[in-house]
Amino acid sequence: MIPILTLDGPSGVGKGTVASIIAQKLDWHLLDSGAIYRAFAIVARDNDIKIDDIDDLLKLANNFDISFKLNSNHEPLNVYLNNVEVSSELRTEKTAALASQFAKIESLRKVLLVKQRQFKKLPGLVADGRDMGTVVFPDAPFKVFLTAEVEERAKRRLKQLQERGITGNISHTLAEVQKRDERDANRQHSPLRPAKDALVIDTTNLAINEVIAKVMALIKA
Ligand code: DC
Repeated sequence: MIPILTLDGPSGVGKGTVASIIAQKLDWHLLDSGAIYRAFAIVARDNDIKIDDIDDLLKLANNFDISFKLNSNHEPLNVYLNNVEVSSELRTEKTAALASQFAKIESLRKVLLVKQRQFKKLPGLVADGRDMGTVVFPDAPFKVFLTAEVEERAKRRLKQLQERGITGNISHTLAEVQKRDERDANRQHSPLRPAKDALVIDTTNLAINEVIAKVMALIKA
């Protein structure tokens, strides 16, 4: 059996940071499923494929080549599309918003789901996203759902963007985060929600080390 930890939650909650630290601690593989949706959005845009060109979108999804490299200080991941690094473009809110729109399409999700399951390998996998515990790895033995108040998430997202040299302001970031959450939580297919058997952790008032400790305790138990 290959052990899997699923980490789901809304945008800006810090799941990417938690996922990469835990993957390093356990020496497990890491799947940043949001990066797959973001990368797909970049390629679709570059190929000028619109959201309702379903046939072309599916053709593209079956053919796009994405690979990840963990960097030494936990995050962000270096992401390559057809061997070209796209990490910084991948992390903008513009790319995230586009990804969230493509993510509503059920047939596209089905193709991308196959790519995501390929990350399941020994000695184990940490998978972060919106539907890791509910749809992609429903049998995972360890499931966590992270939440935090939206204002706190907007603050974290803004800080993260600023650290990457991207400018923004809090009211704009808050509006973007709210809009994306609403779309991700209310879509018909694989919406953002905790799996029935997930441990839900409210991280609003927790430091990153405290969140890590809680997740590690679940795995060790
Ligand atoms: O986790 P993220 O912010 O990188 O995700 C970007 C978008 O991709 C998110 O707003 C919705 C979509 N997504 C998804 O639908 N399912 C996932 N498992 C991960 C991301």
